[in-house]
Amino acid sequence: MSIFKDTLKQKQTTSTPLWLMRQAGRHLPEYRKLRSRYPNLMDMFLNSEEIAKVTLQPVDRYNLDAAIIFSDILMVPYTLQASIVFNEGGRGPVVDIDFSKEQKIERAEPVFNAIEKVKEKSTTPLIGFAGGPWTTVFYCLFNSEERKKNTQTLIERNESKIDQLIEKFTDATINYALSQIESGIDAFQLFESWAGTLNEEQFDKWCIEPTTKIFKEIDNTTIPTIGFPRAASVPNQIKYSNINNISCISLDYNFPLDQVISLNQKISYQGNLHPEILYKGGTEQSQAVEKILNAFKSKPHVFNLGHGVLPETPIKHIEELIKQVRAE
Ligand code: CP3
Repeated sequence: MSIFKDTLKQKQTTSTPLWLMRQAGRHLPEYRKLRSRYPNLMDMFLNSEEIAKVTLQPVDRYNLDAAIIFSDILMVPYTLQASIVFNEGGRGPVVDIDFSKEQKIERAEPVFNAIEKVKEKSTTPLIGFAGGPWTTVFYCLFNSEERKKNTQTLIERNESKIDQLIEKFTDATINYALSQIESGIDAFQLFESWAGTLNEEQFDKWCIEPTTKIFKEIDNTTIPTIGFPRAASVPNQIKYSNINNISCISLDYNFPLDQVISLNQKISYQGNLHPEILYKGGTEQSQAVEKILNAFKSKPHVFNLGHGVLPETPIKHIEELIKQVRAE
């Protein structure tokens, strides 16, 4: 066993396990070198050799307690036959999807093959993941201009369409998760990055219900489940932490540490250092890390960020973070 998997099963460990969301990516020079060969990032996400290589880069460099498969939340739309192009220049991916099309799970075969390759090469626990149905639907349904506008009005106008799509994307996510589990992942995380855009009623039907359905299909005594309802209100996060078969809740950097006590006390917790604090480093970083470690002292806790590593983050700050967490 590993301290990562033990912690997700609420077992006592000798030290706090640690990994970082987006640990595989642009902050690493070895990643940027590979990446420069791919004008369209999607070609990299569909190459199992490269996926496996990139997944292990941060693990080899930092000796982290978990790896996360190098992929994107847009893989589920891709299995639903979307065309996805990542353009140069940071304007984000362009998704073209016909919602009437059926899922072709085999389109994600490179991801499943990469999971097998990583498991052959490394004993480090491997996290598989998907975007939450809400986050994925939101991204596919609205273009970049619309996403910046008044989202609540936009959401209310499209309510019945969203209802239908959530159902379709939930089923597609279940298939995708189960295929990753068959390929050998050790834990599964659902990234609901846009949970914060929903009111309580919408959160219930588009976040709580789909997540309940997805986690019901996963035997979390073998493959622990992590949910990340980023930027949801505290009452919504409390509700989320009580979903059946959830092993761990990943807390975003705004979650107030004095409210951890209100969450489900039978699960584990992950998080929640602010990525900007890691970027800036110094005493502000060490104090923030200390505060987080103290807040979770007597609880099963996986140290992580409250959202992904920023591409400009200095490697030295990550090394200092790891040293501090391991010294506790
Ligand atoms: O810890 C992990 O590695 C998690 C995997 C993950 C990625 N993206 C990998 C990735 C997750 C959970 C995401 C989330 C995601 N991706 C969202 C939800 C919002 C969020 O930030 O949490 C959305 C909308 C996407 C789609 C997407 N993919 C965007 C907007 C971008 C950046 C813009 C661009 O055109 O490059 C990506 C690329 C992406 N996804 C990278 C990584 C590591 C960056 C790769 C690179 O730039 O070389």
